[in-house]
Amino acid sequence: MSFPAAPADERAELRIGMIGYSFMGAAHSQGWRVAPKFFDLPLNPVMKTIVGRNADAVAQAATQLGWQTYNTDWRAVVESDEVDLIDVCTPGDTHAEIAIAALNAGKHVLCEKPLANSVEEAEEMAAAAEKAAEKGIRSMVGFTYRRVPAVTLARDLIASGKLGAIRQVRAQYLQDWLADENAPLSWRLDKEKAGSGALGDIGAHIIDLTQYMTGESITGVTGMIETFVDERPVSISHSGLSGEAGTERGPVTVDDAALFLARFSGGAIATFEATRFAWGRKNAIRIEINGTKGSVAFDFEDMNVLEFYDAGDDQQTAGFRRIIATEDVHPYVAAWWPPGHGLGYEHGFVHQAADLVQDIANDRQPLPSFADGLAVQRVLAAVEASSDAGTVWTNVT
Ligand SMILES: NC(=O)c1ccc[n+]([C@@H]2O[C@H](COP(=O)([O-])OP(=O)(O)OC[C@H]3O[C@@H](n4cnc5c(N)ncnc54)[C@H](O)[C@@H]3O)[C@@H](O)[C@H]2O)c1
Repeated sequence: MSFPAAPADERAELRIGMIGYSFMGAAHSQGWRVAPKFFDLPLNPVMKTIVGRNADAVAQAATQLGWQTYNTDWRAVVESDEVDLIDVCTPGDTHAEIAIAALNAGKHVLCEKPLANSVEEAEEMAAAAEKAAEKGIRSMVGFTYRRVPAVTLARDLIASGKLGAIRQVRAQYLQDWLADENAPLSWRLDKEKAGSGALGDIGAHIIDLTQYMTGESITGVTGMIETFVDERPVSISHSGLSGEAGTERGPVTVDDAALFLARFSGGAIATFEATRFAWGRKNAIRIEINGTKGSVAFDFEDMNVLEFYDAGDDQQTAGFRRIIATEDVHPYVAAWWPPGHGLGYEHGFVHQAADLVQDIANDRQPLPSFADGLAVQRVLAAVEASSDAGTVWTNVT
């Protein structure tokens, strides 16, 4: 007995070539795989080819993650007529070269954060993106946490005036995977590859998030960065953020923690903290924003919840409301499950893929743009310059 075939997908294809197949490679694959299953997209994203330097490993990744083909030469993929979009999931030292080559070859680009390893590289990338946009070639930087529904909801509440004028921003990104001084070296601890340490890896996220949520930009900073452990075992294998330690040792060339104060363009003042040494904090992105009319508070370790305080509430019952951001009126949620059936880390990547496909199809600039990525890069550079100069006030230029 044969069963009727499902109708063919009539949508035009958006064929993707992804460079890198490890942590972000797996997360982005999940995004591309799932987005068209839950969101009604105008184009059909096709997982065409995946790129890595080791043929056996990338072949295995292609099968596991669901890519049609694999390749060991990113330049061949960037130039290929069989690919429409390049998704850059490699360490920061490769972003500029791959993304600019892809834009120049007429490919849309999704590039992981931080956009680059220096302001100069980020400027070149933003210029290439602007030029490409004139021909309808789109680009986006992967500050994924913007697309957590509770975060997008906070942004919407602030934009609608519920918090009034923003006075204070408190932002932390706390992890603990380096707190053990024998946790092994990886590319994230090598300035040549990563650009900076906690500052660029996780501090970049809270810089982007707070600029996005407030709709304001950071105009100046005073910063302090610190390396607690300057030598570690070299890793013999890599998995997730870290890996397995060998017997050889090597230098740590980036910061372990970064603290800074900042001013926003609307007059708000802010504190920022990024560390991978906060024992017990696994992926604690905590943002609290106080305005003239109320506050919002978010913690990624309870990512489906947004806390909101309305200063106009009756005094007797006033208090932070714990909004479970899983109702279909909340951003992105209508595409998913019934209320209270929470979302997880991977959903941000699905939302990112869905938004990018819609923007490309509708000929709109996706956000965050490479210009937004450059703005973050300028803040990172100002924090480093401030710290190097003895924690002096430094304007973001
Ligand atoms: N959006 C987020 O929340 C988030 C989270 C983690 C990492 N990131 C960013 O994603 C990027 C990748 O990080 P990751 O954690 O996936 O790293 P990873 O080490 O897990 O994976 C890096 C991949 O890039 C490949 N690679 C490295 N150099 C290459 C080259 N020259 N040519 C081709 N392939 C190369 C590696 O083989 C590996 O597959 C970084 O920019 C990082 O900052 C973003």
